[in-house]
Amino acid sequence: MTASSVPSIVLRGVTRTYGAGSPDEVRALRGVDLAIPPGETLSIEGPSGCGKTSLLNLLGLLDRPTAGDVLWDDAPVGSKGERERARLRLERVGFIFQRFYLLPTLTTRENVELPMRAAGVPRDERLKRSRELVAEVGLAGRERAFPHQLSGGEEQRVAVARALANEPGLLLADEPTGELDSTNTDAILELLRSVQQRRSATLVLVTHNPVVARRARRHVTMHDGTIERDVREA
Ligand SMILES: Nc1ncnc2c1ncn2[C@@H]1O[C@H](COP(=O)(O)OP(=O)(O)OP(=O)(O)O)[C@@H](O)[C@H]1O
Ligand SMILES: [Mg+2]
Repeated sequence: MTASSVPSIVLRGVTRTYGAGSPDEVRALRGVDLAIPPGETLSIEGPSGCGKTSLLNLLGLLDRPTAGDVLWDDAPVGSKGERERARLRLERVGFIFQRFYLLPTLTTRENVELPMRAAGVPRDERLKRSRELVAEVGLAGRERAFPHQLSGGEEQRVAVARALANEPGLLLADEPTGELDSTNTDAILELLRSVQQRRSATLVLVTHNPVVARRARRHVTMHDGTIERDVREA
């Protein structure tokens, strides 16, 4: 893969309304403009319910805006077909979800291997890389454990390893250290950073944790579906 697989992302006037027109309509995003150049690290902060996960889902092509445009490398991606969007997600996006979404019937190593399998990585390489990643997140002895046999923090680390499997150009992390103690938080942040640097990847960190937010040079604060502040450190 080349550095060109790190997308330049622009959101223009993006809104996302859940259940539009119904009595329980929720206007989760209300006109968001945001440009994220390739390779940038930014944090997204703000109170619960302000739209952080909704925004991340749009950045990572898991969802489509109700109005406005999401552009990747100047091309609108909201109108692309689902097959094309799935391919872009698989090859270019690493998502660390707020709820980890590990597959309960797969072991630690199999969960990490899954995105490589989907991307057609040969078996030997999959095995090698999934072992390395599992070790890198500190779970070397737990390769054969199923998710229900892991602690919350361990599940989170499997989710991080899985997100890094295809060396994505865009890393989207939704509270990636929420379940972790400070030692593991530091280890995961270092791992994210090393992958980011190797790939010159973009890293978006949604977090309430000031230790995590300090990793970013740009800090976006959301409030009630809008961007309230957007500050780059000198
Ligand atoms: N699938 C959905 N259907 C209906 N409403 C939704 C859906 N997902 C999110 N919402 C609502 O949209 C708003 C924004 O939710 P979102 O998950 O983006 O918030 P958040 O900033 O990530 O919050 P938290 O910090 O608690 O994770 C909330 O009011 C939420 O209840
Ligand atoms: Mg959220």
